[in-house]
Amino acid sequence: MAADSSPRTPLRIALLGHGRMGRLIEQLAPEHGATVVLRLDGSNNQDGSGLNRAALRKTDVAIDFSTGASVTSGNLERLCDLGIDTVVGTTGWDDRRAALLAHARSSRIGLVHGANFSVGVNAFYRIAAAAARTLARCGGYDLAAFESHHRGKRDAPSGTALRIIDEVRAAGWSGEIDVTSQRTGYVPGTHELQWDSAADTVRLSHTARSRAGFARGALAAAHWIHGRSGVYDFAECWERVVAGDGPSSEGSR
Ligand SMILES: NC(=O)c1ccc[n+]([C@@H]2O[C@H](COP(=O)([O-])OP(=O)(O)OC[C@H]3O[C@@H](n4cnc5c(N)ncnc54)[C@H](OP(=O)(O)O)[C@@H]3O)[C@@H](O)[C@H]2O)c1
Repeated sequence: MAADSSPRTPLRIALLGHGRMGRLIEQLAPEHGATVVLRLDGSNNQDGSGLNRAALRKTDVAIDFSTGASVTSGNLERLCDLGIDTVVGTTGWDDRRAALLAHARSSRIGLVHGANFSVGVNAFYRIAAAAARTLARCGGYDLAAFESHHRGKRDAPSGTALRIIDEVRAAGWSGEIDVTSQRTGYVPGTHELQWDSAADTVRLSHTARSRAGFARGALAAAHWIHGRSGVYDFAECWERVVAGDGPSSEGSR
């Protein structure tokens, strides 16, 4: 994500989704050594119909920030079949995730997917897991998770909240988790965990200041995945993406 990691030849991006995130990625692309060569949205890509060899002939990497329904109804399958390396930031496609990721693996494209492309949030996942591990051992705490997003966000709880809960569970938290979602105004994204006991409260919070962190993470992931094959969850590869490590011997094409 550092500007100096950008190669000299701009990476050519096809944008799937040209809403809040797609427009921001297009705006920030030149700072990140990338240029947008194709824009698809609901008007020209129903069921993935805008994705064909001719339309994608100048594309190095596709970045999808559209809707869960459009990821599952054609976008990702077509990109796999056309051999296009892809970054998927769209949330709300969990019902078909396992099948689509298996298809991506067998097609040998490079795919980075993630519910949250912010580096700070990915650090938060680890911090949340460490806190859960410790407080599960202490006993006596109730856990509540809260997330707030702008009124236009469709899925609730957010993909990020679901991921935080998965991390907390994997760290050994077996008790109930009271999950609350709020959709209001223009909030770019707030996630909180609160452990409450008779004696005290432990609170962890991540607040996005804008959507730029997600867009920069997605652009860095696009550079990283280009020419690499395999399926990567951004939560697991973000440190390598940020470090800009070169293609690995097992994953390069
Ligand atoms: N992973 C992350 O870090 C992260 C961060 C922010 C947001 N997100 C997720 O990213 C997605 C987009 O967010 P947003 O705020 O940009 O939403 P948005 O402003 O509502 O934009 C959605 C875009 O998707 C387009 N679209 C609809 N059907 C499509 C299709 N078949 N093919 C291509 N595009 C299609 C829409 O076009 P029309 O207007 O023509 O319908 C619109 O341009 C959501 O799932 C959100 O949860 C993820």
